[in-house]
Amino acid sequence: MLSTREMENEIIKVSRSATLPNMNDLHGKRIVLGLTGGIACFKAAELCRSLVKAGAKVQVVMTEAAAQFITPVTMQALSGQPVYTSQWDSREGNNMAHINLSREADALLIAPASADFMAKLIHGKADELLSLMCLARPLQTVPLILAPAMNREMWAHPATQRNVAQLKADGAHVLGVGQGDQACGETGDGRMLEAEEIVDALEAFWTPKLLSGQHVLITAGPTYEAIDPVRGITNLSSGKMGFAIARAAQHAGAEVTLVAGPVSLPTPRDVKRLNVRSALQMHEAVQAVAANATVFIAAAAVADWRPANSAEQKIKKDGSGDTPALSFVENPDILAMVAQSARAQKGDLFCVGFAAESHDLLAHSTAKRARKGVPLLVGNIGPSTFGQDDNALLLVDAQGAKELPRDTKIRLAHQLIQDIASRLSKH
Ligand code: C5P
Repeated sequence: MLSTREMENEIIKVSRSATLPNMNDLHGKRIVLGLTGGIACFKAAELCRSLVKAGAKVQVVMTEAAAQFITPVTMQALSGQPVYTSQWDSREGNNMAHINLSREADALLIAPASADFMAKLIHGKADELLSLMCLARPLQTVPLILAPAMNREMWAHPATQRNVAQLKADGAHVLGVGQGDQACGETGDGRMLEAEEIVDALEAFWTPKLLSGQHVLITAGPTYEAIDPVRGITNLSSGKMGFAIARAAQHAGAEVTLVAGPVSLPTPRDVKRLNVRSALQMHEAVQAVAANATVFIAAAAVADWRPANSAEQKIKKDGSGDTPALSFVENPDILAMVAQSARAQKGDLFCVGFAAESHDLLAHSTAKRARKGVPLLVGNIGPSTFGQDDNALLLVDAQGAKELPRDTKIRLAHQLIQDIASRLSKH
């Protein structure tokens, strides 16, 4: 008879070999980064750095106008590759840089894409290297991705909007624009997306759409249970795992609603976020969305208890040495209740729970899965993951357990989403 610890070690050995591949970064992707003329060229330096950091091999191509805003020397230093600026560049043996560079690429990313450059593209003009490459790229295998940047009036102009629509119709992927202060002093739409938003969009672009058509509801972060207007009870959950799952689910093509406890993490792109504070608010928000969801992932660390009465005014220390008598009531178990009502309605909602434990992960996770009445429970060691960017997960279902070994939360989130997607097809 194996002890729990020995069983966990066995699972770890077996499952290591079955680990799913990482799908979430740009490792090995060959990206031609094209710069056209605009003040947003200064952001292309950061973008280039971020792409390289994410594992991509970046080849920079610049128009003459782009070189007025940032030097090829800067872009060469950041990409680690000589920059191309002319179709007459004699470094290429066959003198066909436009053919060679576009054939070697996994994507052409134009950032910033100026209004003028987009206008050229829709006409198939090819009078310098970058537009020539866009026209010469193999349409079916080398995607063209554009991150526009321009003044708000230029962006809103019917000619630009018409060009964007035509570019999309021609198969290009036109990313959105940011909103805010512009270099010209005006404020509005037209800023180039930030480097990390563009990297995120590329990662999403290459993520298989395993959850397309699904609506994934996720809870994340801690809850805060007020004792009085200035004090409360909470826990060390950072929300990072839940937010990573929301991002991975969105990349996989799902509609995603994230019910977040009090954390200051940025909302993943195209994810609908509902901020809550207490367990009761989280329960209410979840109930409102669960009826339309197909997957519910409860990653939040919900407080088990809340003060029976939250004082309306700050409880004062009166100098007598007496301590306030706090009494507690149990919070609703959101996951168990949602799973129960999904079963009662014979609905299709696939429920996934989390367990943050300090020891005996397999035993506690197995028991918790049964108690919550969910098909899948994800165990993790709380003290070694709270606030961290990495984690290790133990996936427990009716058949047994499988470990996803220590990795970044983002990569683990993608593996978990892949695993859930394969379960949905059998569900
Ligand atoms: O009971 P315990 O808190 O350990 O269970 C953890 C799982 O249950 C997590 O998925 C958590 O989000 C969920 N949970 C919940 N509502 C509660 C307590 C936990 O949804 N009140």
